[in-house]
Amino acid sequence: MRPRSGWAMKPVMHEPLSRLRRSVLYVPASNEKALAKSASLPCDAVIFDLEDAVGPQQKADARERLRQLLQGSGRPKCETVIRINPLSSEWGTEDFLAARACRPDAILLPKVDGPRDILDADAALDETDAPRSIRFWAMIETARAVLNVGAIAELGRDPAARLSCLVAGTNDLAKETRVSGRENLRPWLMQVVLAARAGNLTALDGVSNNFRDLEAFAGECAESRAMGFDGKTLIHPAQIAPANAAFSPTAREMAEAEAVVAEFARPENRHRGVISLDGRMIERLHLEQAEALLKKAQAIKENGE
Ligand code: COA
Ligand code: MG
Repeated sequence: MRPRSGWAMKPVMHEPLSRLRRSVLYVPASNEKALAKSASLPCDAVIFDLEDAVGPQQKADARERLRQLLQGSGRPKCETVIRINPLSSEWGTEDFLAARACRPDAILLPKVDGPRDILDADAALDETDAPRSIRFWAMIETARAVLNVGAIAELGRDPAARLSCLVAGTNDLAKETRVSGRENLRPWLMQVVLAARAGNLTALDGVSNNFRDLEAFAGECAESRAMGFDGKTLIHPAQIAPANAAFSPTAREMAEAEAVVAEFARPENRHRGVISLDGRMIERLHLEQAEALLKKAQAIKENGE
């Protein structure tokens, strides 16, 4: 049967599957010490914050400090993201122009309610002749964003849109919905993960405010990985190592993946769709999963870890 026209696969701009976003640290752009430290930290990405971590009286100074850092020699080598204030706020336009001038890898849009907010930011960026390489990340932190997250994530399948990543904003979500406790936020966090997968986007979990209890934090990271998140947003350098560990393949997972690849590579299995390995059914989809895991492990190795 020939596919009907319209069945053709839509082109999708995939983020490389091996792209690492295990540990994504917020750095308040108003904090000179933290800014200076950012380039030396072993996180996969940094989000320089102009929004909630910066007080109303500090906004202009923070913008200037960030400009100096990113246009100078202190720019981190890792993926660099700038969170601006909402475009509709009194600081939005100036933040947006400052961010664009810093040429980050991405601009993180807060308080997104639906796809229109991202399309508007896209159009505004195009108006400034910004390079297409600048992407958008979107905070999912309002009740409307959770209700619209499927439509927001659809933009990930649109090669003309710049959306690359969904970031759960658990503090704002708890505030707006009056829901307390991570266990009660979980259904909405799962919506974020599902939407991200549908739209070929990265999904980042919200922050953990208690940055002294690293044991509890490691537990939260393990849970977050099991929920399907690609990484965790962080507020403190001490949280980087546990996040990197939790979102990296374990030695056992790597050994299992290598066994799956080796089994399918045997001449008698090369053309089979399903085989058995140690009493378990293994299909080609498991081979793809194993290959993706090994590719991620390779990317971590190339990182020098
Ligand atoms: N990025 C880079 N460096 C950071 C950092 C961060 N997010 N948080 C702390 N540091 C640095 C401090 O500047 C300090 O540096 P020093 O050793 O040179 O003095 C060191 O790490 C230790 O900091 P510590 O004393 O343990 O924490 P603190 O009390 O100074 O700060 C917070 C605690 C929560 C205020 C701070 O971590 C922070 O501002 N985090 C980010 C908050 C944020 O961005 N929120 C918005 C998104 S949810
Ligand atoms: Mg927020």
